[in-house]
Amino acid sequence: MDAAELERIKAGYLGRAGALTELLKGLGKLPPDERRKAGGLINGAKDRIEAALDSRRAAIANAALEGRLAEEAIDVTLPGRGRSLGGIHPVIRSWRRIEAIFGSIGFDVADGPEIENDWYNFTALNNPENHPARSMQDTFYVDIRDSAGLNLLLRTHTSPMQVRYARQHKPPIRVIAPGRTYRVDSDATHSPMFHQVEGLWIDEQISFADLKGVYTDFLRRFFESDDLQVRFRPSFFPFTEPSAEIDMMFTSGPNKGRWLEISGAGQVHPSVIRNYGLDPERYIGFAFGSGLERLTMLRYGIDDLRLFFDGDLRFLRQFA
Ligand code: PHE
Repeated sequence: MDAAELERIKAGYLGRAGALTELLKGLGKLPPDERRKAGGLINGAKDRIEAALDSRRAAIANAALEGRLAEEAIDVTLPGRGRSLGGIHPVIRSWRRIEAIFGSIGFDVADGPEIENDWYNFTALNNPENHPARSMQDTFYVDIRDSAGLNLLLRTHTSPMQVRYARQHKPPIRVIAPGRTYRVDSDATHSPMFHQVEGLWIDEQISFADLKGVYTDFLRRFFESDDLQVRFRPSFFPFTEPSAEIDMMFTSGPNKGRWLEISGAGQVHPSVIRNYGLDPERYIGFAFGSGLERLTMLRYGIDDLRLFFDGDLRFLRQFA
């Protein structure tokens, strides 16, 4: 029975033409003493009917509420749908690892502009204007100049951070500067946007031996292996003298026995020390610039650089 049906039944007894109402109407025709008796009986019946209706009405309302509660119930014991968490990109994992490793031996971490001017990117690093060394790197130039009238470009390496940092800090200078770099280049081993980490240690007596020690130790910790060898091959960069290419070779594992180029490095050129605002007769040290993609590919055994930038979740999920 629902509420409407109950109201219909109520009308049948208590409504204008209801059975009890009819009886009440007939009271007037009875003799006075019977009228009182019958009146009492009828009113008693009316009270009982009303009480019964009330309790029934409450029961119906209750049942309706119970029904809704059951229908709309939430099963709190169901497992949640969960929120899918993003993962850390493998190159950024390397970035963080490198910060932690160098941080543990007292290197600061610095960050600087990706849109750089040509003084920091080239001139201060001993690449004078029109010097052929500038063509070593294919540069994305930006078609505007900065407020000092200098050409803007997307930095081709993190080396401008050497100059920016050294001009703002006093020696001893020990810093790494990881970040994005850009060159007009695109194939299986080159991407127009890639990452480097610059390292710089400048003090009164920092030698090539320190570079060897620091860098070799870094590689062993980065790859979590002592089974690797490091060699310094003579090379050329305008901002270092002598300059070297750092190669490494695993002595175990799938890549064992192959020399792999991993970083440019060298003793900072006296002219560059001067551009730091320091006296090259007093201060000396080393710099290196390593490719984060290269380090990451070797660490995880990845063979195509483009996988890092395709955004393919099947690849990326493996590092989440
Ligand atoms: N900036 C150089 C490059 O991108 C690497 C480098 C850094 C070499 C520091 C020497 C010292 O190729």
